[in-house]
Amino acid sequence: LVWLLLLSLAWLGPVLGEEQKDGQVGAEEEKEKEEDEVLSDEIKEEDNVLVLHEHNFARALSEHRLLLVEFCECPHCGQGCGQGHIVGRDRGVGQGLWAGGWWHREGCQPVERCRGDVRVPLHVTGRMDTQGIVRWMQRRAGPSATLLQDTDTAAAFVDSQDLVVVGFFKDLGGKAAQVFYEVAAEMVDVPFGVAEAAELFQAYGLSADTVCLFKKVRRWPGVVGSSWLPASPHQPLPWQFDDRQTDFPVDPEQGLDTAELMQLIRVHSLQLVMEFTNEVRAVPVPISVLRGPSSLCPHPPPPPQTSNQIFSAKIPHHMLLFLNKSSSEQLLLQESFRAAAGAFRGEVLFVVVDVNGHGADVLPFFGMTPADAPTLRLVRMENNRKYQMDQDTFSAAAIGSFIRAVLDGRVKPRLLSAEPPEDWDTRPVKVLVGKTFEQVAYDETKNVFVKFYAPWCSHCQAMAAAWEELAERYKDHEDIVIAEMDATANELENITIHGFPTLHYFPAGPGRKMVEYKSTRDVETFSKFLENGGTLP
Ligand SMILES: *[C@@H]1O[C@H](CO)[C@@H](O)[C@H](O)[C@H]1NC(C)=O
Ligand SMILES: *[C@@H]1O[C@H](CO)[C@@H](O)[C@H](O)[C@H]1NC(C)=O
Repeated sequence: LVWLLLLSLAWLGPVLGEEQKDGQVGAEEEKEKEEDEVLSDEIKEEDNVLVLHEHNFARALSEHRLLLVEFCECPHCGQGCGQGHIVGRDRGVGQGLWAGGWWHREGCQPVERCRGDVRVPLHVTGRMDTQGIVRWMQRRAGPSATLLQDTDTAAAFVDSQDLVVVGFFKDLGGKAAQVFYEVAAEMVDVPFGVAEAAELFQAYGLSADTVCLFKKVRRWPGVVGSSWLPASPHQPLPWQFDDRQTDFPVDPEQGLDTAELMQLIRVHSLQLVMEFTNEVRAVPVPISVLRGPSSLCPHPPPPPQTSNQIFSAKIPHHMLLFLNKSSSEQLLLQESFRAAAGAFRGEVLFVVVDVNGHGADVLPFFGMTPADAPTLRLVRMENNRKYQMDQDTFSAAAIGSFIRAVLDGRVKPRLLSAEPPEDWDTRPVKVLVGKTFEQVAYDETKNVFVKFYAPWCSHCQAMAAAWEELAERYKDHEDIVIAEMDATANELENITIHGFPTLHYFPAGPGRKMVEYKSTRDVETFSKFLENGGTLP
């Protein structure tokens, strides 16, 4: 359940946003302990993983062509590498070697993985489980794209997966081909092939350098009466498949651009309409979340597996159709939804959410219940604002013009708000909701200190007692209000919460000022901050 909640939150916060980080943890203490460290550059091995530190790091870099390093928390303030050892057991892929070590620079570094060859580290992208990392490493260790020699191998390659990418280049040593290889090394989830032979250019109808996507397209057969309706609502709809080749000619002047090519492939590797099917699987938590020195729950947390595709596509808007898939009537709505999707490819991702299935877990973040289906929502990913039609209309034309209106800024977002609890102001910590926030926080006679939290966030739970104590301490101060708001159930027009907990101080007086509190979360420091009028000495 925790995973589902985390996942659902990707619609609650800006997916493209930065993760916040806390720095500075006891830097002086570390310095002292550091003196005790061994200064030798000897490299020890544990479980097939080289154990690196600042004194043997350079040596390891010089001794191996490729070095995959997991930067752990430094041992002064956390544990050593763990996950790295799991990967290390699969050692032997290409000429890559795995190493775990800590690197001590300006306090503790967040956990990250990077490739340490030629001293220009590359961050590992994609799935952070063993398989994902091994695949990433394979792409780096050998050629990242398969060379297709003749029509038979090309045909077999194209047929091997639902989506493959083939680069046709007259000169595989040329610049465009190099960019293609780079992209292939990065996008480890998609198979990449390259072709140089004239025979292949001809077979695929090409005359100049071109990147081709081969995709098995699921095709809606069209409604003939209602004969396509599945016998049981749980049976998959009878899509038809066909192979489709999409050509992206390489501009002879501009060449290939890495970022552009990656985005192009990402956008086109998605189905026109995605279904939100978040299978509950044990997914390794990305390491930076588990063990980074940051004491903020990232918001949103990186999404796992199935919805990974939806959220990692970096498409700026998501159009969601919530429906009850057990209702054959509602199933029909998918057709016009799909018909509207084509015009917005790359700009708006269309997603179907089954309110009876895994989609049920997403509903609270939209303030909805299964009975609200069928309904539509548009989400602007940048700030997680949600938009809704005055009255749901499911025709392709209505969906299209609604999206246009939102994109043109003609529709106001709909903000979530819970109902204020009856006893919201009887306890020391005042409970705010979206509807009451404005009136309390911006009261010009009060200094208001607000904790924005998520119910599942462990860092929020850890500071809950301190917040209660603070409120208790100031409950008799007429001009001070200590408050909290569940930011997963309440949204504000002009304040977007990026991480939990976020603490904002709204000083008394005109001007609607807001000060973010970023220091230690304990009662004494909170008090000092309040006594000082919203700053720390
Ligand atoms: C979904 O549809 C089925 C079939 O019409 C119905 O029995 C069920 O109650 C519906 N569920 C909800 C939550 O409306
Ligand atoms: C949000 O900001 C806009 C533009 O600055 C302003 O017009 C609006 O009143 C603000 N709304 C709230 C609730 O503070």
